[in-house]
Amino acid sequence: MDIKQCCADFYQNDLTRLLFGDSMHPGGLGLTKELGEKILLKKESNVLDLACGIGTSTIFLAKEFGCNITGLDLGQKNIEIAKMNSKNAGTINKTDFQIGDAEKIKLESETFDQIICECAFCLFPNKTQTSQEIFRVTKKGGMIGISDIVIRGDLPVMLKAALFQFICVLEAKSEQEYEQYLQSAGFSNMKFYDKKDYLLQLIDDIKKRLFAAELLIGLGKIKVEFDIAKIKKTLQEIKTCVETGLVSYVLITGIK
Ligand SMILES: C[S@@+](CC[C@H](N)C(=O)[O-])C[C@H]1O[C@@H](n2cnc3c(N)ncnc32)[C@H](O)[C@@H]1O
Repeated sequence: MDIKQCCADFYQNDLTRLLFGDSMHPGGLGLTKELGEKILLKKESNVLDLACGIGTSTIFLAKEFGCNITGLDLGQKNIEIAKMNSKNAGTINKTDFQIGDAEKIKLESETFDQIICECAFCLFPNKTQTSQEIFRVTKKGGMIGISDIVIRGDLPVMLKAALFQFICVLEAKSEQEYEQYLQSAGFSNMKFYDKKDYLLQLIDDIKKRLFAAELLIGLGKIKVEFDIAKIKKTLQEIKTCVETGLVSYVLITGIK
């Protein structure tokens, strides 16, 4: 199976939803609000939520800022859930959800005032192409707001492999490398904000949810292909890397 589809499938399986919750990024909707404020979302904005998952942030931003917002994700099931969630939240007139690949956005050039992309840039295999696509669909003077995992050096090989196996992180990069991708595409005035504490919090939350998952497995309610003990060990190793500053989570903003 195509690596991108495999990743999308991972993020729409039941165990992933159980472990991450509906807002599938560190900092939850609090950090989404901060990102929305930093890129100056307003009622008149036409926004793209790239790799929107089940649309939790998309719906939240439509409510919070009153903007019109399109959610795009490669996962078909995610988009079906996002549409249903938006209907239930009463934001159907403000939101639009589409299945699509971030590396080949099938939307008109210069369509969006702002683009957000939370915890997904690190999953895209071709970051150069994705950056160019994001730049293409942004209006002149528009803003990007990305939040993502950063890796500032060499991770132990086993840990790198585990990150890919457990959370599909194909290649998280350093701040400098993300800046290079986005600047080469044409964005300027890049700013970075470290949000390490939110990543630590998410790791602790996932650890707690793993206990719940173990209970459900014990009761025969869910079946998983993963080795839970191995996931716990990996989480602890990631936590150590976050504490030492090798791994972190950042907000990135820029202007076209
Ligand atoms: C960690 S989740 C984040 C979801 C959402 N942004 C959030 O914060 O709740 C990553 C998402 O990226 C999507 N994704 C992965 N590769 C993609 C691609 N090439 N194009 C579009 N979406 C993609 C997955 O389907 C998944 O929903």
